Amino acid sequence: MSKAGRLVVLVSGSGTNLQALLDASADPSYGARVVAVGADREGIEGLARAARADVPTFVEKLGEYASRADWDAAIAARIASYEPDLVVSAGFMKILGAPTLDACPVVNTHPALLPSFPGAHGVRDALAHGVKVTGCTVMLADSGVDTGPIIAQEAVAVLPDDDEAALHERIKSVERRLLVEIVGRMVREGWTVSGRTVRIGNRTEGESK
Ligand code: GRF
Repeated sequence: MSKAGRLVVLVSGSGTNLQALLDASADPSYGARVVAVGADREGIEGLARAARADVPTFVEKLGEYASRADWDAAIAARIASYEPDLVVSAGFMKILGAPTLDACPVVNTHPALLPSFPGAHGVRDALAHGVKVTGCTVMLADSGVDTGPIIAQEAVAVLPDDDEAALHERIKSVERRLLVEIVGRMVREGWTVSGRTVRIGNRTEGESK
């Protein structure tokens, strides 16, 4: 088996998606390992999960920079220093700028079926709209808010008594499995992007990296 793909995972909160990636990568056949975890704030469970797994962490707070461009450059440099093959934005509540997006592919996950309900409150907005089916989306990040090419989606039924927390928990259990599956396949099999269509597989030398 070739060398494990290097993942840098970005988090802003509880980090259960990160934990799923850490757990999956304990098996060498997964083909990827988390080499660093980055955050935009301190004191979050996502960073504690990384520490418990002996994975290096870094924090770049937007408020500590004079401008968004300065933060963009700083976080890009921190990410690049770990030489990732793939960056995974797993509940990271910031849009990444060109310095990161131009340097390395970034996979993002969202708790709704895009293009419906993008943004920070995808679960709340879907409930408020009264949808009967929602779900999660794994996509390639671009400069917009949840606008990048979609890699995979899975549906989750909305139950009559759902509140935001209950529905989000059910979505997250699907989301974690889907994210782990897609990240692993991308690293092992490669991928191509044509327009908005992402296809995993058929790695040929020089492609997808
Ligand atoms: C996920 O549902 C993610 O899509 C959303 O926030 C949640 C993060 O969960 N943006 P966790 O921090 O991985 O537990």
